[in-house]
Amino acid sequence: MSVRIAPSILSADFARLGDEIAMCVEGGADWIHIDVMDGCFVPNLTYGAKVIETVRRLTSLPLDVHLMVVEPEKYFEDFVAAGANVLTIHQEAAPHLHRQLARIRELGAQAGVALNPSTPVATLADVVDEIDLLLVMTVNPGFGGQRFIEHSVQKIAQARALLHSRGRPALVEVDGGISRDTIARCWRAGADTFVAGNAVFAAKDPRAEIATLRSRCSDVA
Ligand code: DX5
Ligand code: ZN
Repeated sequence: MSVRIAPSILSADFARLGDEIAMCVEGGADWIHIDVMDGCFVPNLTYGAKVIETVRRLTSLPLDVHLMVVEPEKYFEDFVAAGANVLTIHQEAAPHLHRQLARIRELGAQAGVALNPSTPVATLADVVDEIDLLLVMTVNPGFGGQRFIEHSVQKIAQARALLHSRGRPALVEVDGGISRDTIARCWRAGADTFVAGNAVFAAKDPRAEIATLRSRCSDVA
């Protein structure tokens, strides 16, 4: 299983966004993770299509857009037009999950579903066939730099088992508190795609940190 490292620009210095993205590319990042927050689904506000479009101009890496918003379907078209490759919506914010996932794929993007720490994996049993990525939140969403919730490791294993039982080759992503100290546990449990904000951007050498995160996974492979 290959490892994908997705630095989250939530922790980047926006005055130097071009340099920050270039640094991720040089460090071997696989995806760029973009956190969209609406101040309603989560208690924080960030950015929308304009920033996705800006990042699109700065890199050709896939853009992994995490929608922490209510009524996410309002933004699908604009975000795909802005250059998003993956759109991940929250199970808790999407009462018509099946239809919304189908819509994302119809627009040509990969469809992801995220689960808050309090939402069981089993709630996705009826949409497994519609998803390209299952995101297990390893913190309560809203802010960077929070502490990893240990219980998530079991959920990662459950997520992988659910996908496997249905023969679904979807990615299992983790987001929140991922660092050189927590990443291997997630990898061992079945995650293959790792969002890292603080661990990368607050590191002394962010380029090297991306490689270190990746190596922690191969160490246990
Ligand atoms: C949190 C966001 C994350 C955040 C992760 O709600 O979804 O993507 O940037 O930040 P770290 O890696 O610092 O926990
Ligand atoms: Zn995120």
